[in-house]
Amino acid sequence: MDTNFLMIEGIPFPGKTYNRDDIISIRDEFVVKDEDTIVLSYPKSGTNWMIEIVGLIHCKGNPTWTHSVLSWERSPWLESIGGYRYVKNNRNDVHFYTSHLPIQLFPKSFFNSKAKVIYLIRNPRDVLTSGFHFFKAVQYIKSPETFDQYFECFLQGNVIYGSWFDHIRDWLQMQGKENFLVIFYEELKQNTASTVEKISQFLGKQLGPEELNSVLKNMSFEVMSSNKMANFSILPEDILDHSKGQLMRKGVTGDWKCHFTVAQNEAFDKVYQEKMANFPPGSFPWEK
Ligand code: A3P
Repeated sequence: MDTNFLMIEGIPFPGKTYNRDDIISIRDEFVVKDEDTIVLSYPKSGTNWMIEIVGLIHCKGNPTWTHSVLSWERSPWLESIGGYRYVKNNRNDVHFYTSHLPIQLFPKSFFNSKAKVIYLIRNPRDVLTSGFHFFKAVQYIKSPETFDQYFECFLQGNVIYGSWFDHIRDWLQMQGKENFLVIFYEELKQNTASTVEKISQFLGKQLGPEELNSVLKNMSFEVMSSNKMANFSILPEDILDHSKGQLMRKGVTGDWKCHFTVAQNEAFDKVYQEKMANFPPGSFPWEK
């Protein structure tokens, strides 16, 4: 799709918002602190939803913070040029940040820390579909011309952050570690309250019934869609062309079924089965 990727250790990044020195410095020099909480995901898995949830849990359901501070200041995107600068300049105040990095480019210091990572995973078919719509609007990435073209690129890992399959397979080696929580977009949709409680327990924040209700209300698609601090509507047109796409698009599971042809579905399944062969059947919610 995009021949202008900045390739760093085999992973494609959009050249305009990343630079090689920062990515290498994040991996080799950035110090993750024990008290940090990191939202980690492959792009389009519901990252911004998790940022909102973590912020709301942190404030015990009080939406003042999530409704008054931009999401990328509440939880800066570590490896973007602006995000890394922000984190470095405000290191003493930043305890939440976000990353899409694959494991081999993640800060090495994390692996000897007690920092908490929430790794969010979503059905790759919906990730692909969401990405197709969103990246059409992102000005610093060459737009996918057709769904078919983007579909092929996604299966080959020729998209930003590389292969979904590699990202998931490599990060899931961390599953079971005390400071690494795996959450599925699908479980958040289906069992919202119990999944939020699981996250709040992991973060060491006990929520009372009223507090939980407020988290649930303010993390809803409806409330988040109208939260200017979270819905990307404030992003300038030279970053996001709002007439072409938006972050808060549909917020559902299974939208891929409205996009994949029968042939694409078969092609996807074939690659999926090959790449995910090491996971026992039923390992992921969409396989059940
Ligand atoms: P769709 O494009 O399928 O609607 P990311 O934050 O990783 O870029 O992911 C964006 C996806 O998360 C979008 O999916 C968006 O609608 C979905 N999302 C964001 N907030 C959500 C919410 N409150 N409830 C459900 N889905 C949400």
